[in-house]
Parts: sequence; C-alpha cells; structure tokens
Amino acid sequence: NSVLLQTVRGWLREASQVAVLTGAGISAESGVPTFRDAQTGYWAQFRAEDMATEEGFRAHPERVWGWYMHRRQLMVGVQPNAGHTALAEFAQRHPGRLTLITQNVDGLHQRAGSHGVLCLHGDLMEDRFLDLPRPCCHPDTVEAGTPPHCPRCGNLLRPGVVWFGEALPLAVFDAAQQAARACNLMLVVGTAGVVYPAAGLAHSARAAGARVVVVNTAASELDGVAHAVLHGGAAQVLPALLAL
Ligand code: APR
Repeated sequence: NSVLLQTVRGWLREASQVAVLTGAGISAESGVPTFRDAQTGYWAQFRAEDMATEEGFRAHPERVWGWYMHRRQLMVGVQPNAGHTALAEFAQRHPGRLTLITQNVDGLHQRAGSHGVLCLHGDLMEDRFLDLPRPCCHPDTVEAGTPPHCPRCGNLLRPGVVWFGEALPLAVFDAAQQAARACNLMLVVGTAGVVYPAAGLAHSARAAGARVVVVNTAASELDGVAHAVLHGGAAQVLPALLAL
C-alpha cells in the first residue's frame, strides 16, 4: 500500500484540478453508520424503500420522520475526523484546486472547514414541505408533531434530503459533473459506488481522461473504474495522501 500511496501522491502533485467524491465511509470513523456495511449499515436494519422514498414517507410519516430525527440527534454527539479535516486543510493550502462533492447529508465536511461542498443528496438538518409549491402553506405557522405540519393545510414537513427516485439538486449536480470532467485526478472515498447518478461522476472523470483513485476499507463497485485502489480507513489514508 505504501508504494501505491507514493504513486498516488505523485499524481496528486501533478494534478492542477482535483475532484473528490465522498460517501458514508468517510464519516464511519466519526461514528456515523454507513448504509451498506454488512452488520452496521442502516440498510441492514431498514429497507431503503421504507425509509428513503416519498412513498415510504407517505405510508408511515411518523416512523420515517422519527428515524431522521434520530439521525439528527446522533449528529450532535459526533465530530469530523482526520479524513474530513485533511480535505479541508488541503483545500485551504491549495486554493481553487479541489472540488469536494459528497453524497453525505451529515454536514461533517462543512464542520471540518470545507467550503463550497457540493452536496448531491441534500442536508439532513434541513426541513422542507412535502408538497411544494403549495400556496396555502405558511411556514411561520408550522405546528409541532411527528412530523410537524401546517395547521392550515396539513402539509407535512419532510427532511431536506434526496430520496430514491428523486432528482438531485440540478445546479449542484451540474457543478459536480463539470468538476468531474475538468479534473486531472478524482478521489473516490468511502462509497460503495452503487447509487447513481453520483457514482457516474467517477465514470465521467475517467472518460474525460482523469486518473481515478478509490479509497475504501473494502471492495467497491467503482474499483474497476479506478487506476489505483488504496485500502484503508479514510481517517488514516487521507491525511497520509493529502499532506502536500
Ligand atoms: N474508510 C473508508 N471507507 C469506508 C470506511 C472507512 N472508515 N468504512 C466503510 N467504508 C466503505 C464501505 O466499504 C463502503 O464501500 O464506505 C462505503 C459505504 O457505502 P454505503 O454505505 O453504500 O454509502 P454510500 O456509498 O455513501 O451510499 C450512497 O446511498 O442510501 C443512499 O443516499 C444514501 O448517499 C447515500 C447513498
């Protein structure tokens, strides 16, 4: 791994534009559960259809809202780890050179000091109305509940994340796609690489001529797209890789 690490550090040195695509694995060492890890992942415990689709929410709003509130609560007690920090510090030392794209909704990149993070899947801490636009709604009059709702029209609050079957925020995805196409090196960190269109960014980068490097504790679906795979935890590998 250490010879490979030096090789990748060489690629990083040469790269004028670096794009980084992160997934749940980068927050694992902060104590945030991933989705698809065998024992500990959320999708070992719940069905994604129940907890991460509009249909699931409409069927059981109380259960789904409760789960997101549990996840918000969890975030209060966790901190960014050395992987998040290494990315934020690299960007600070090399202004304009790194674009950080994340599938995570946990806000840990931002809390580590990263600016301009492209959040493909929204923000766990945000609320929005389920049925918008809906002119009779008055956000100021939201009534507490599970979930909170508009007392006038009954419109429910939902978390500001992107569920399965929903479109990604267009401007964010456009910017991510541009960064993927313009970079010389893409780091793909802590993602299983099975959720599209996010995972497609690695393919875009490769097709546009960038080197692609995966950082992951296990095999991922994007290993085949990568020029190199660095096995290890993000909180160990990223500080070693990005100390330039
Ligand atoms: N360091 C690096 N990688 C790790 C670590 C770690 N410490 N721990 C786990 N991993 C890897 C796992 O091996 C796995 O490949 O992180 C990946 C986590 O994969 P998923 O749980 O599937 O998370 P992610 O790829 O981000 O999921 C994508 O799926 O449910 C949706 O919207 C949700 O954004 C999420 C999307």
